[in-house]
Amino acid sequence: MGYAEQKLSEEKVFKDPVHRYVHVRDQVIWDLIGTKEFQRLRRIKQLGTTYLTFHGAEHSRFNHSLGVYEIIRRIVDDVFNGRPEWNKEDRLLSLCAALLHDLGHGPFSHSFEKVFDTDHEQYTQEIILGNTEVNDILSKVDHDFPKQVAEVIGKTSDNKLVISLISSQIDADRMDYLQRDAYFTGVSYGHFDMERILRVMRPQEDQVVIKQTGMHAVEDYIMSRYQMYWQVYFHPVTRSAEVILTKILQRVKELYQKSYSFKYFPIHFTSIFNSELVVEDYLKLDEAIILYYFQMWQEEDDEILKDLCKRFVNRNLFKYVEFDPAKEYKKLAELSVLFLKAGIDPDYYLVVDSSSDLPYDFYRPGEEEERLPIHLLMRNGENRELSRESEIVDAISGKRRTDHKLYFPGDFLQDDSTKRNIKKQIRTLLDYR
Ligand code: NI
Repeated sequence: MGYAEQKLSEEKVFKDPVHRYVHVRDQVIWDLIGTKEFQRLRRIKQLGTTYLTFHGAEHSRFNHSLGVYEIIRRIVDDVFNGRPEWNKEDRLLSLCAALLHDLGHGPFSHSFEKVFDTDHEQYTQEIILGNTEVNDILSKVDHDFPKQVAEVIGKTSDNKLVISLISSQIDADRMDYLQRDAYFTGVSYGHFDMERILRVMRPQEDQVVIKQTGMHAVEDYIMSRYQMYWQVYFHPVTRSAEVILTKILQRVKELYQKSYSFKYFPIHFTSIFNSELVVEDYLKLDEAIILYYFQMWQEEDDEILKDLCKRFVNRNLFKYVEFDPAKEYKKLAELSVLFLKAGIDPDYYLVVDSSSDLPYDFYRPGEEEERLPIHLLMRNGENRELSRESEIVDAISGKRRTDHKLYFPGDFLQDDSTKRNIKKQIRTLLDYR
């Protein structure tokens, strides 16, 4: 028996608050979980800075990755198994792609990628294909297997059915993170009947479809995603922490380029500053390391770096007001001038942040982001796009909602500080009391 078919002598289980148990029978999966690249995901939080808003949100990408694996395992073993449209050969490929889909996430990915122009999806590919423990294990299945897994995650594989299991508008990734993030934040949104959705999923040649009878469960899932985005993912306080984090990284980069002499030199960042970040260095970065630097940089001589790190570590976040960049660009320019006069650097302390999301989109060929629509399998055997059947989904389809906020340090603008008149002008202009 080959490595691909090898089973553990006894099933292993992980206790999981969302799926109750995560079941592992395959030797390959067990070995992948044990690699240092996969274990690193324990040190990357699933929701970045969200724990500063919802204190329970300390769960990691390790939790989430096991969860996505478990959902796929249930689909392929319990729902698809034995159906003529399902190729049993794709089972291990689906399980491995599910488990490893977020492998390349870095510490506080969102801010990190913005400042350093890296891409976690590209690192996922490089870790799977590079000189790593994960690659050693996948290669034991077949010399071509790492490439197959990487292509499913990168969505370039010819196997459209397996891609749609892992990344589509109703995939195992979304189904896991919505429920997991709802559980750990403690919000009442984000819950839907996943068991029902799994039972009505059907494999077709190039996609997963949902039996018509499962439509209402899917509606519930789409609404829960919509609510999670606005209540949790785009929460203005989380974004404030994200803004500060981004500005810390930006400041460190700038100081490094100016040859500032650090008390605590960012040795872990040097290859990224020089744009030569290789996988080996990337894998050494995690949130524990980043937070260590933030602690230490509270003692730097640079006032901006010091202040921003104190804010992040002690959760003294920026305040915000609603802002419309299209209409209020003049006001922003005026504010920048006043900030300079008040001795506050607007590059670091006056920040516009925008968030936007499409709750569900139907297929519009030729558009920049082509999203695969959800298809219902009708009683007559035909497929029908979801928003044509569901009034609820139709009402929110294709509508992008964007939210802009202007962030600034409220404590710098108080009356008891220096430059009182200018600060008063700023507060009036911001309509902030
Ligand atoms: Ni994910």
